[in-house]
Amino acid sequence: MIVGIIGSGTMGSGIAQVAATAGCDVKVFDTNTQALEKSKSALEKVLSRLVEKGRIDEGEKKRIQGNISYVSALEGLKEANLTIEAIVENLDIKRKVFEELEGYVSEDAIIASNTSSLSIASIASSLQKPERCIGIHFFNPAPLMKLVEVIPAVQTSEEITNKVVKTIKDWKKVVALAKDTPGFIVNRVARPFYGESLRILEEGIADVATIDWSLKTLGGFRMGPFELMDFIGNDVNYTVTETVFKAFYYDPRYKPAFTQKRLSEAGYLGRKSGKGYYNYSEGAQKPMPKEDKDLATYIFNRVLVMLINEAADALFWNIASAGDIDNAMTKGVNYPKGLLSWADEIGIDWCVTMLDSLYDEYREDRYRCSPLLRKMAKENQTFFNTAQIAGQ
Ligand code: NAI
Repeated sequence: MIVGIIGSGTMGSGIAQVAATAGCDVKVFDTNTQALEKSKSALEKVLSRLVEKGRIDEGEKKRIQGNISYVSALEGLKEANLTIEAIVENLDIKRKVFEELEGYVSEDAIIASNTSSLSIASIASSLQKPERCIGIHFFNPAPLMKLVEVIPAVQTSEEITNKVVKTIKDWKKVVALAKDTPGFIVNRVARPFYGESLRILEEGIADVATIDWSLKTLGGFRMGPFELMDFIGNDVNYTVTETVFKAFYYDPRYKPAFTQKRLSEAGYLGRKSGKGYYNYSEGAQKPMPKEDKDLATYIFNRVLVMLINEAADALFWNIASAGDIDNAMTKGVNYPKGLLSWADEIGIDWCVTMLDSLYDEYREDRYRCSPLLRKMAKENQTFFNTAQIAGQ
């Protein structure tokens, strides 16, 4: 299979490596020739490290590199059976590139976007044959993260969806099929991890170190929400939140936090700027958490139940299957457990009671319990039967 990649930045380079490792003939295009050079040398570095670690041998490294060529014009992708675009997140620019590409590729070539926040329908409508367009959303870093969300638009044909699902599975990735709605699965379901933690901070219930400590210690999350926001970049994380909030017609559940907006405006972007919620300058001391078990339990329960509510609501609105929603969070953002399995474990009843008590306290729509959770509690149901493993 010949795979075209448009944009050789962080994502394009990673996706090229994945496809080349799977044996595809990959052609990478970028308008910026320096970006192409950088992508090539980054791949050399990554593969050399894999050789050093003994994960692959020199022959495998050569084979992967030999599968990738770099082209300086979009026309160079004309033989691609599948092209994945990973350029700047701008609808007008993406539409222009898609329109031009369609003029070069064959009638049955698939044209896909790695967009995180734009609707696939709006990108697809730039094509003469929109039924060939689909979302293929990788996670950063693409070679390491197992999950790929596949998002058919309203225009996408079933045949194209099936072909893409098969191809991505052949690339040894886990596919979660998602509806073309804001944030798809992961960027929607993960919002409360940041949003509810920020809310707890803004209410003065606990400081960032304590909130991070609570979620890592009791929840088993690899990074706390504030560490993670600093890692992602407060500018990037804020923009995703704001985009999802606006795209959901200002549903208060996704409301962004002033705290993060101000950090972003101040240039306190996190690790990349040396300061965010934490200070990353040399010699800076990390603040100590307040190791209070009751406080930690309250924080963990509150964030977890909001995450579960979001996951349940995604299922309620048929955004994806229960198995795919759980896989998305464990394989796309390394959550220690699928949220719906987690709900089964702690009890749907408990989730409803906890959400209702938050709603009673605040009287805000933000804390409304998903109708699905309420119905399941009433009927004594679980998301998975105990013998079943999520996604199988
Ligand atoms: P990036 O900024 O690292 O790379 C974008 C590349 O596209 C640059 O090398 C740029 O020169 C090139 N480019 C810009 N306009 C172009 C054009 N008209 N034709 C050809 N090349 C062009 O961006 P990144 O982070 O790789 O993101 C790319 C896409 O992937 C975006 O749509 C983003 O939303 C999405 N995405 C990003 C993730 C991330 O964590 N960075 C995760 C999943 C999706």
